[in-house]
Amino acid sequence: MRITSTFAETRDLARGGVGLVPTMGFLHEGHLSLADAARRECDTVVMSLFVNPLQFGEGEDLARYPRDPEGDAALAEAAGVDVLFAPQVAEMYPRAPLTRVTVAEMSERLEGGRRPGHFTGVATVVAKLFAGTHPDRAYFGRKDAQQLAIVRRMASDLSFPLQIVGVPIVREVGGLALSSRNWYLSPEERQRATALSRGLMGAADAAEAGVTDAAALTQLVWDEMAAAAGVEPEYAALAAAEDAAPLDVLDRPAFLAVAARVGPARLIDNIHLDPAGDGFAADRGVELTAPSLLYREGRGRPYVHAESLEEG
Ligand code: PAF
Repeated sequence: MRITSTFAETRDLARGGVGLVPTMGFLHEGHLSLADAARRECDTVVMSLFVNPLQFGEGEDLARYPRDPEGDAALAEAAGVDVLFAPQVAEMYPRAPLTRVTVAEMSERLEGGRRPGHFTGVATVVAKLFAGTHPDRAYFGRKDAQQLAIVRRMASDLSFPLQIVGVPIVREVGGLALSSRNWYLSPEERQRATALSRGLMGAADAAEAGVTDAAALTQLVWDEMAAAAGVEPEYAALAAAEDAAPLDVLDRPAFLAVAARVGPARLIDNIHLDPAGDGFAADRGVELTAPSLLYREGRGRPYVHAESLEEG
């Protein structure tokens, strides 16, 4: 594996069909599943590792976002990544960018309503990664369902000649969706946070049994979260997979999304509901059978449970 810091070096090393796996580092099994998918389908796997300041709002956790560059390099190499592109801010943003990419309307919904500017930061950096690394395919987790929809739309609107691939959520033992920020949670908080996925799985059962009323499905998730000590639900919503627009009835590919605060972190999770036969089938993701490598001895810096941290 080669580690690069410029777009030019990265392009020089890419041969044949190129698969891009964009990340902000502090890798876990969710990122590695993206790399696995890219390894199976592409000649060269490029993973980017860049904590993008543009997508963090004021008061969010940019300064304390967990980092482990050496650990990430070892994990990326073991996952078969060919090129690890780890640029400095000066390579990504040589000047404060006057040009920003905004996917209108879609960026205002759900997470966008709570995190103004977040999706403009995401779409801008992802467009730069596409323009600078020339991938044939790019891999994103279904965990960030709205981000996936926005990236798909941005790539189509701007005619990037590539395919966007959505990869199922990877869950910790017990169901909590993997996120680098789970590392902020104490073991007890992680246990409490399983209310999100428990609620979603209950709603998935109902949707597969034929319930299509959005209010009924979201109520199931909300009740499970609200009943859990230490979990403060923020929203539960059914949205169209294509554009994250709110749905009253499950009548097309959709995702049921939740956000909640647990201890110092704000967590998001979802299940995708895809048409199957006469009804819908839920993509529940895959669950690990052993503790995530996020909690491996020596990862990241010690963290004091003090401030509120946002999903990013
Ligand atoms: O999902 C993430 O980790 C980030 O939003 C991404 C896509 C790498 C852009 O910074």
